[in-house]
Amino acid sequence: MDFLRGIFQLHIPILDDVKAKGVKATLRAKFDDVVTRVTAGLGPADVRAVLRDDPPGRPNPRLKPHAEGFWLHMKPTYYHNMVDGLYPTFRLGWLSTFFFAFEIITGVFLMVFYTPSPLVAYENMRNILSNVPFGSLMRDLHKLGAELMVAIVALHMLRTFITGSYKKPRQFTWATGVVLLFVTLILSFSGYLLPWDQLSLWAVTIGASMVEAIPPEVVGRTVNLIVRGAPEFGANGLLRFYLLHVIGLPLVGIVALGVHYYKVILHGHSLPPGAEDVGVDTAKRVPMESRVYFMPQILTRELWYVSGLTALLVLVCAFIYNAPVLEAHADPLITPLHITSPWYFLWLQGMLKIGDKVIWGLLIPGALTGVLLMLPYFEVGPSRRYGDRRIGLSAAAVSVAGLAILSFMGSPWYKVTSSPDQEAVAALMPQTHPGPLREANWDELTFGTYYAGDWASAPTPTLRSLLHLFADHLAGVESPERQGVAAYMIVEDWQTDLKKITLRVTWTQADGTPYEFSQSAYLHRSHNGEAGSQPAAPAPTAGAAPIGTPAATVSAPVGSATVPAGMPATATPTPGAGG
Ligand code: HEM
Repeated sequence: MDFLRGIFQLHIPILDDVKAKGVKATLRAKFDDVVTRVTAGLGPADVRAVLRDDPPGRPNPRLKPHAEGFWLHMKPTYYHNMVDGLYPTFRLGWLSTFFFAFEIITGVFLMVFYTPSPLVAYENMRNILSNVPFGSLMRDLHKLGAELMVAIVALHMLRTFITGSYKKPRQFTWATGVVLLFVTLILSFSGYLLPWDQLSLWAVTIGASMVEAIPPEVVGRTVNLIVRGAPEFGANGLLRFYLLHVIGLPLVGIVALGVHYYKVILHGHSLPPGAEDVGVDTAKRVPMESRVYFMPQILTRELWYVSGLTALLVLVCAFIYNAPVLEAHADPLITPLHITSPWYFLWLQGMLKIGDKVIWGLLIPGALTGVLLMLPYFEVGPSRRYGDRRIGLSAAAVSVAGLAILSFMGSPWYKVTSSPDQEAVAALMPQTHPGPLREANWDELTFGTYYAGDWASAPTPTLRSLLHLFADHLAGVESPERQGVAAYMIVEDWQTDLKKITLRVTWTQADGTPYEFSQSAYLHRSHNGEAGSQPAAPAPTAGAAPIGTPAATVSAPVGSATVPAGMPATATPTPGAGG
């Protein structure tokens, strides 16, 4: 008792208040104080009034958090009712911000279970997909969010161009936007490498190979070393891309986003092009009767958007969308056929197919970036109206069409450089996913040499269907340069429970030289036993050949040292980890 009385005699402010006003009034005052500090200016009564949409008092307390608070100083206190609807922004800038935050949140979840090392990265990914609670959902959300963010940021840029919103005084807003566009693209691209499967390694290798082309050679080589951390991607490259993905680019993005938002608030959201006189910018002078206040209208609406959109994305990922399955463990020695860069870089891959790497992969993209950055200084006409900007808008339409055509050219459907023998073998034994041979019924792959043309007389249904597929892929490839095309499957009992399957294509070239292409895989009973069963995960040990991956690849016109593009020049028969 004496102890309590002793405490009560101390001069602690809150105790003094309790002595003077009583417990209830003191706690109420304390609560008011805390809420006002947290909201940077609004007391509980103000918050209640905001939520009820009561008219604000005078002076309007709802303006205080914009002036005194950290978060809301990035939001305007009110908008013009002309920019409050779907047109002209289509909410694309807002959506870009949403996805930026969404990617950070889902990314931090994935980070907890991921180590950026070639020894474990792939295994970590498999763990996230199969063991970590909600891991697969989080990966789907992160992947879908990344794809959507790229598309939305690009659309946002297009809309600010179409509505002429990048014109004076918003030139610098546009420039910070271009930085954000690059941050978004490189963020997505650097994330591509992290799963460390065949697709990620080779898609990123294609992209990064452009830096090697920078002239003079010594500069290209040095920049390549800086980007990859070694002549080829390995532990250093993975760590660099990881650090860029989780620290470097998000930091640059946050700073650029801060400046971007600051400029948007400074100049106000541009009104629809037809709403102002030509050359006049009235975005900052919003008449009282046209104001839509952030609190409560826009705030409550944005809270609804955030919850609705998050719920929608979760539902889509739970029931409809699945991020692409992991392919085989990354293998720097095996280049899969038809690897493409991510869709948003297909246009660049298309340009590389046109001609010289330096011109089409460096100089032209570099010049295009410069033009994009300087665009507000090129199109200097004062009018933002569509009718007055026919040249600018036509140029935008032509650019979009050009990007679409180049993207098509970058896809595997245009100017494929592989030959029919590689195509036919890859149809049975692809290097990017298990494929028909590795999924086949192991017991029905019986010892023997089978000619694909005689598929109907093969002894087992599995052999018949595989040989049929093989023959189908070589149908119609005979030509004067390629005569007497024949395809074989050779099944050998290599060790107990281990079979070696060789696919071989032969023909005679126009000058009479015999040509042969063959590729082998070692299939273990435990991984290819039952019909339709999925082969087990390739061993994530660095350097080990994934189970069921073609372990020996020899390809050359007979009597010549040439090796078809995309195939390793050396052949090392290594029975996979299952052997
Ligand atoms: C992560 C990427 C980006 C984010 C989060 C973002 C965010 C925003 C937001 C919230 C606005 C307010 C108006 C609106 O919603 O349209 C805005 C406006 C603007 N943004 Fe972006 N933006 C991004 C990328 C870009 C890019 C790539 C460009 C162009 C190269 C760009 C150029 C502009 C311009 C010119 C405005 C002013 C529009 C106006 O006043 O009507 N932004 N941005």
